Amino acid sequence: STAVVETDVLIVGSGPAGASAALFLSTLGVSNTMITKYRWTANTPRAHITNQRTMEIFRDLGIEDEVLADATPHHLIGDTVFCTAIAGEEIGRILTWGNHPARHADHELASPSMNCDIPQTYLEPILVRNATMRGTQTRFSTEYLGHTQDSSGVDVRVLDRLTGSEYTIRAKYLLGADGARSAVAADLDLPYEGRMDIAGSMNITFKADLGDLCRHRPSVLYWVIQPGADVGGIGAGLVRMVRPWNEWLIVWGFDIEQGPTEVSEEDARGIVRNLVGDPDLDVEITGISLWGNNEQYATQLQRGRVFCAGDAVHKHPPSNGLGSNTSIQDSYNLAWKLAAVLRGEAGPGLLETYTAERAPVAKQIVVRANRSAREFGALFTALGLDTAETPEQMHARIEERKDATADGAAKRAAVREAMELKNYEFNAHGVEMGQWYDPATSTAVVGDGTARPEPARDLELFYEPSTYPGGRLPHAWVGDRRRKLSTHDLASYTGFTLLTGITGEAWAAAAQKAGEALGVRVDAVVIGPGREVTDLYFDWAELAGVAEDGAVLVRPDKHVGWRSRHLVDDPDGELVRVLGRILSRE
Ligand code: FDA
Repeated sequence: STAVVETDVLIVGSGPAGASAALFLSTLGVSNTMITKYRWTANTPRAHITNQRTMEIFRDLGIEDEVLADATPHHLIGDTVFCTAIAGEEIGRILTWGNHPARHADHELASPSMNCDIPQTYLEPILVRNATMRGTQTRFSTEYLGHTQDSSGVDVRVLDRLTGSEYTIRAKYLLGADGARSAVAADLDLPYEGRMDIAGSMNITFKADLGDLCRHRPSVLYWVIQPGADVGGIGAGLVRMVRPWNEWLIVWGFDIEQGPTEVSEEDARGIVRNLVGDPDLDVEITGISLWGNNEQYATQLQRGRVFCAGDAVHKHPPSNGLGSNTSIQDSYNLAWKLAAVLRGEAGPGLLETYTAERAPVAKQIVVRANRSAREFGALFTALGLDTAETPEQMHARIEERKDATADGAAKRAAVREAMELKNYEFNAHGVEMGQWYDPATSTAVVGDGTARPEPARDLELFYEPSTYPGGRLPHAWVGDRRRKLSTHDLASYTGFTLLTGITGEAWAAAAQKAGEALGVRVDAVVIGPGREVTDLYFDWAELAGVAEDGAVLVRPDKHVGWRSRHLVDDPDGELVRVLGRILSRE
């Protein structure tokens, strides 16, 4: 048929990137349509670790409680075990995802929101439901076929898979959130570095009650080192909790050179019983699926009016749990920019900052996740497994760690050291929270002429709060006798926010004037006794990075757009200049 449907933004895909983009755009009042190929959302648990940065975004959107209600909480996800079978011997444990008391403190200090575990099968319906309730036109069983763009919009050909009919959707912008094998990215011919399908993995989902083996060491991850358990080059089988403690997912490697393996339900039951270490375990196999391990990122995320987000632009193994998180964060970065351009508040140049800001993140997380996967090798080397050729040799090498010999002692020390390295996978708080947009490459961040502070601790392991332009707004508790708010709660996703202190009050009037002059929402919040909120624990004074009469300009996505150390002579003029640049108005 020749029917043409119109929308401002067409989103392809209802995964974490697409469904969150729909939610963000609808929350911002932007007309949008989301199409997705299948009749419903993800049918396997897939991504699950949901980090603090993503939980803050859910808090901002008002859905944090809904996510927590369906999630396994922080305190039940991090007693990560390495063993020869779940019912077998332990090689070691590591407290992960911020569950070590020292790292837990870092997490408490960094954010109003705690991380959790929510499988994609539970998260996607929350995102889709809220997006659709807020205005998204959602079309299941609808497939993207191709597009053409011109100076005012994009014509997208889609297939209604129920009726077999094709129609055209005319959109001002198109977002390809269609996953690792993105057809939109292929049509755009986006440039990539790295490669796909470097190893094969198999997911087996099953039901079995493992409560007695897990309740005292609660975790989402139980790594099993066993002959033939090679997962995507890692060399271990992973038993992952989906629901405590009776729904599980095993990730099991296969040789991708040999092509996809045929696995029967009986084979799968055997793998489960081996990894659990109970030959008689009562197991119900609920699914078997195959997936590829990739190491690839796009260096350009946009062509004209078409953008890509999520796995379409960063493809990597599950290590570090960054897939779904980064996908949602991509869309959070893009949606406010699209809204600002569609409302006429920003020039199209703002949209180019999406690549400038998110392509470096795509590269960083792909490299990190693959490095983490490879660093498992250190544990195998420490155990002496890299040279073991038979299951008997493998077993003997693992046993050697008990020996009362110098070799035994050396092996124990090597195992400890190799486990320490896994903090870069399971406690990489800096990778999760420390994303920074460089004012030298993004025009949506205005530098303040100072040099970026030298980190005091390892930037991958530790998050260092700073209002240095381009970084995430530091969290501090503010409020009054009735309310306890995060600094993040002060900044709306629908506009800019200027934070200042009592001697900086002139900034508040300047913010209003600048907002009126440019036609954008700029809220000013004066933090101090007797004002909108007070600095409840005097933390903000430490974190503000500017004097009391200075100002921190927060973008809708809670990254610092600009800051001024002190009050300036012409604050209105200064804010008009800075906001004009951020919004590409010149
Ligand atoms: P995602 O792939 O989730 O979504 C793509 C969407 O596009 C889907 O809704 C699909 O229907 C739609 N689509 C595709 N082509 C289309 C077309 N032509 N027309 C219309 N719609 C189309 N990560 C992790 O951290 N831990 C894990 O254990 C796993 N396990 C895992 C298993 C399997 C089998 C897969 C495929 C992936 C994982 N992942 C994972 C990765 C994780 O799922 C991934 O990082 C996120 O889902 C990425 O979200 P996106 O929204 O970018 O893509």
